[in-house]
Amino acid sequence: MRHLIDPTNLSVSEVGEIISLAERIIADRPGYSQVCRGKKLATLFYEPSTRTRLSFESAMLELGGSVIGFSDAASSSVTKGETVADTVRVVSCFADIIAMRHFKEGAPLVASQYARIPVINAGDGSHSHPTQTLTDLLTIKREKGRLDHLTIGFCGDLKFGRTVHSLIKAMSRYEGIRMILISPEALRLPEYMLHEIENQKQKGVEFREVRTMEEVMPELDILYMTRVQKERFTNESEYERVKDSFILDPEKMRAAKSDMIVLHPLPRVNEITREVDNDPRAAYFRQVENGKFVRMALMYTLLQWNEGARPAAVPDLGPGLFIDNTKRCPNPRCISATENVDRVFYRVDDACRCAYCDAKI
Ligand code: NCD
Repeated sequence: MRHLIDPTNLSVSEVGEIISLAERIIADRPGYSQVCRGKKLATLFYEPSTRTRLSFESAMLELGGSVIGFSDAASSSVTKGETVADTVRVVSCFADIIAMRHFKEGAPLVASQYARIPVINAGDGSHSHPTQTLTDLLTIKREKGRLDHLTIGFCGDLKFGRTVHSLIKAMSRYEGIRMILISPEALRLPEYMLHEIENQKQKGVEFREVRTMEEVMPELDILYMTRVQKERFTNESEYERVKDSFILDPEKMRAAKSDMIVLHPLPRVNEITREVDNDPRAAYFRQVENGKFVRMALMYTLLQWNEGARPAAVPDLGPGLFIDNTKRCPNPRCISATENVDRVFYRVDDACRCAYCDAKI
């Protein structure tokens, strides 16, 4: 069975196919209005969302399918103590495809091990968000005409911003990409992503870390702004200290290229002033609409790929993964810290990492 848990679950050519299909859907919406007739999407959202859930739901409705689900963990059996594994086994009897958002890192991976239908990760903790990445890639393709030879600045909360982690992984696979990481020291990328970029550097992807937006503005093709993720801080005063680290305003936009684009996964708090919305380079609301089209393309594709597929009796762990129930993942936000799941790991560069959240053991 094919799922989408991490952006690298799709090859570069598969990402290309999904983006082209999204472009064909945009050009011929009536042509795709019945292709998922009779199919049901289950949206299992254990964490707040506006855009992502509505985007998934409207995508399935526009394909002619229907939608069931919950938008709040409090209204599901999780309050009675049901595990993710059991919930998805149950939902597999009712739906054809699942989109899951969860506050625990790795929860969608657990879901994919137990579901009998394809699972899409709609955001897990501060870990990853592969469908936002597809949204970002489609937007970049439509706005810039290409996905290679681009300089992209990631600005804001690179530590907890899962959209940044997934987009860095995905963009690293294209040629001539330069990435500039703009964050205060306290919001630098987490350890597993710093390790990932060290590996990417060896393969020729350029990375640079800076502390101000101004010093790099003129060289950017894309500025990817992010919100400081208040809900992930354990210390309120630390959040207060860093919350307004970067504010994009028309003054700063003056230093940017005339064809630079500004992306933001939204919701925005203070990091982009309202006046920037009127600048034609502000692409974040166009990005939202692309999210629906790319999710239409993704769900249609996953349903086709999985047509007739049967899950293995024992979940297929995937290449390089192994179970060792004597080891523990040290990350308290990892699903393996609270659910009784098999502890799955992989080795890279002599280190052992948790397969659910990538934390180093
Ligand atoms: C993002 C998310 O949930 O990670 N939003 C989204 O899906 N569009 C970004 C955020 O919450 O800041």
